[in-house]
Amino acid sequence: MSEKPVLVAQISDLHIKAPGSLAYGRVDTAKALERCVATLNALDPAPDFVVISGDLADTPTVEEYDHLGRLLQPLKLPYAAVPGNHDSRELMRAALPKASYAFSSGPLDQKIEVGGLDLLLLDSNVHGKPHGELGQPTLQWLEVTLASSADRPALVFLHHPPFVAGIWHMDSQNLQNVGELATIVRRHPRVQLIACGHVHRASLTTFAGRPCTICPAPNHAVDLDLGHLREPSFKVEPPALHLHVWLPGEGLGTLVTHQVPIGTFDGPHPFFGPDGKLL
Ligand SMILES: [Fe+2]
Repeated sequence: MSEKPVLVAQISDLHIKAPGSLAYGRVDTAKALERCVATLNALDPAPDFVVISGDLADTPTVEEYDHLGRLLQPLKLPYAAVPGNHDSRELMRAALPKASYAFSSGPLDQKIEVGGLDLLLLDSNVHGKPHGELGQPTLQWLEVTLASSADRPALVFLHHPPFVAGIWHMDSQNLQNVGELATIVRRHPRVQLIACGHVHRASLTTFAGRPCTICPAPNHAVDLDLGHLREPSFKVEPPALHLHVWLPGEGLGTLVTHQVPIGTFDGPHPFFGPDGKLL
């Protein structure tokens, strides 16, 4: 097993529209992605890889994926993506043709090795529907891929969370066949994290005995309506991304997820002066 730490940044739910269009008539998702890319490029040490966990486009159209490609051009880091419910498998495959897809057509599943880590990207898109589902080819591929090693830690990425988060209108459009995913995850202790998107806000729970996260978005957040008090709404909250850090160690090592705000901030400033004393 590699002894080097591995840093995997996750960004999610970009919702890129045609140039000049605002999401819901209000949110400049292109500007939000520009700020996100600048934050990713400024991370020091630099992440080894970036995963985009779905909803890259909004409608989706070829023009939106072209716009996305231009916005991602300044990103200095290697990246890969899973589709979300706002994406099109076919348009995404055409927009990201160099990706290492497991299948030559259909689901956009991928296995990416980054140092001592396996990243398993699952396609949960159901054409024309907001909810997610893992098809049999994806589930079988996941089982076989996980069974190919026992000691390489693996992070699983998919757009739709396999749990209810308590936000009523999102809970009805999460992953549907969670039992089948849970059965596979339970069989493979090397799965260290299931990382999702879709809800545009940071959440953490466990799923099949493993940590399971939702990554916040660079643009708008789904309103934290835990009481079914309002119609589906969004808020423009502080944007953020996730940085999953794998540290080698005993057994499968340690995985830690940091939430990183998007933007530029005062600092870093030293805690200690030249005399070694706390300032
Ligand atoms: Fe989504």
